[in-house]
Amino acid sequence: MMKNKNMFAANLQAVFEGYMDKEEILQLIEVPKQRDHGDLAFPCFTMAQHLRKSPGLIARQAAESMNKESFEKVEAVGPYVNVFLNKQQTANEVIGEIFDKQQDYGASVAGQGEVITIDMSSPNIAKPFSLGHLRSTVIGNSLALLAEKRGYTAVRINHLGDWGTQFGKLIAAYKRWGSKEQVSRDPIKELLALYVRFHHESEAFPELIEEGREWFKKLEDGDSEALQLWKWFREESLQEFNKIYELLGVYFDSTEGEAFFNDKMERIVDVLSAKNLLSKSAGAQVVQLIEAGMPPCLIKKSDGATLYATRDLAAAVYRKERYHFAKSLYVVGNEQSLHFNQLSAVLKKMGYSWWKDIRHISFGMVLKDGKKLSTRKGKVVLLEEVLKESMELASKNIEAKNPDLADKQSVAKSVGVGAVVFHDLKNHRNNDIEFSLKDMLRVEGETGPYVQYTYARACSLLRKGNFQLTGETLVCEEEAWPVVKVLAEFPNTINKAAENDDPSKIAKYVIDLAQEFNKFYANKRILEEGKHKYSRLSLTYAASVVLKEGLRLLGVDSPPEM
Ligand code: ARG
Repeated sequence: MMKNKNMFAANLQAVFEGYMDKEEILQLIEVPKQRDHGDLAFPCFTMAQHLRKSPGLIARQAAESMNKESFEKVEAVGPYVNVFLNKQQTANEVIGEIFDKQQDYGASVAGQGEVITIDMSSPNIAKPFSLGHLRSTVIGNSLALLAEKRGYTAVRINHLGDWGTQFGKLIAAYKRWGSKEQVSRDPIKELLALYVRFHHESEAFPELIEEGREWFKKLEDGDSEALQLWKWFREESLQEFNKIYELLGVYFDSTEGEAFFNDKMERIVDVLSAKNLLSKSAGAQVVQLIEAGMPPCLIKKSDGATLYATRDLAAAVYRKERYHFAKSLYVVGNEQSLHFNQLSAVLKKMGYSWWKDIRHISFGMVLKDGKKLSTRKGKVVLLEEVLKESMELASKNIEAKNPDLADKQSVAKSVGVGAVVFHDLKNHRNNDIEFSLKDMLRVEGETGPYVQYTYARACSLLRKGNFQLTGETLVCEEEAWPVVKVLAEFPNTINKAAENDDPSKIAKYVIDLAQEFNKFYANKRILEEGKHKYSRLSLTYAASVVLKEGLRLLGVDSPPEM
């Protein structure tokens, strides 16, 4: 399609010589919503302004003087020049390219191996892995896959929340009320209960607060008992998190969390003070950001303890020096926008020219029945349970519909987990999403299982039709054309999704492709013997390749049978 678009733009450019360049024309070309308006359209409003004539007149003149050889039809409709592509030629080109490149269809070398670091997931030790962390994990993973598809090197970083005053509180709570057996049995649940109890009891016994602070001080000073407990909490938590990552099929290049930066913060504080950027505010050391219109960034508390922001400054510098990133992404909920704006602003003041390569990839909340989920009161949705429940539901569906399926368990996992991941990614990340397992698992509608099911259907057709590539020329039937057009848009969709850090573009795309393919399937007997069989199966094959690759870019499996 890009080729066609280019051709259309080149033709228009010749007509509008001196008024518009090709880039500008390419930007303006649209895909008409209505099929009878052709395959591509050019609106003439901007040109009308340049020439001080009516858009309708310009459209008519352009349609007339354009070179029409390469198109089936060119016509002016109102202010638009509409072109109809040559279906046979386009279908053979697009499907031919998919046959050639297979899963590499849509790949590019735009990134030239440059590094993009992606701070993703980053849950907090001793706390449940929240649905927010799930969002960060799946959005980050998809961005990494998209980056790799475009020739970048993605570095997946899990910046674990494994440091901070809360660990002082947790140790204090554990020392008072904890038991080794209980924590080992169900670490996250038990540690969370201890933490909640600490908060609760410290309302009546404020001296607890002091106790927590002392333990954190010990931890920072390297006290061996404090360190040992902290390490143990960290390991137990990480084991729990790893179960989730395994289910999701996500891995990390680094799990260097906040604690890793303990010995790297002094340097940051030194630079800040050498550049005269630190000032005192209520005993704390801060960087003023008045000129940037932001509240001050806290660097050190009055008791000398460093903060989240200080660790992030150290981490940003470390990542630049270690990975030489071209871009550094942070996939974190939009409630942390101020933090990341401050991070960039402080890096800029420190004189790092790469401050503008730092990007906060924000996202909305997960709601249940329209309300925010909170961890505060210990009322949390445990993600592992959610994924298990989803897999169980998927498994029930399989038992009901296809009890003889081979490898049932692994299919149930792909479908159950895929449903949750797809649901997360199908809306723009900045939207809040409503959490409903029932909706996610529906096989009709815009769901992961719907797309997976369409892929499995295509695979089954190919098996039954015993499809073999022969390379003969394809015939594009009227009903196949919408599928060809969607297939042609895949490379462009990948670029847009990556450039806008927006995986939902891929999710919407695979839904679109599945819908168009299913319409074709409903209208044509694909397996019927006859002169169209090879062409129809070829289209089915091309659709299967692209559906699978699209789902892969979202981090979703595609079982060949379900
Ligand atoms: N642990 C934090 C949280 O759960 C997210 C950390 C995000 N990454 C970062 N570099 N600040 O809210």
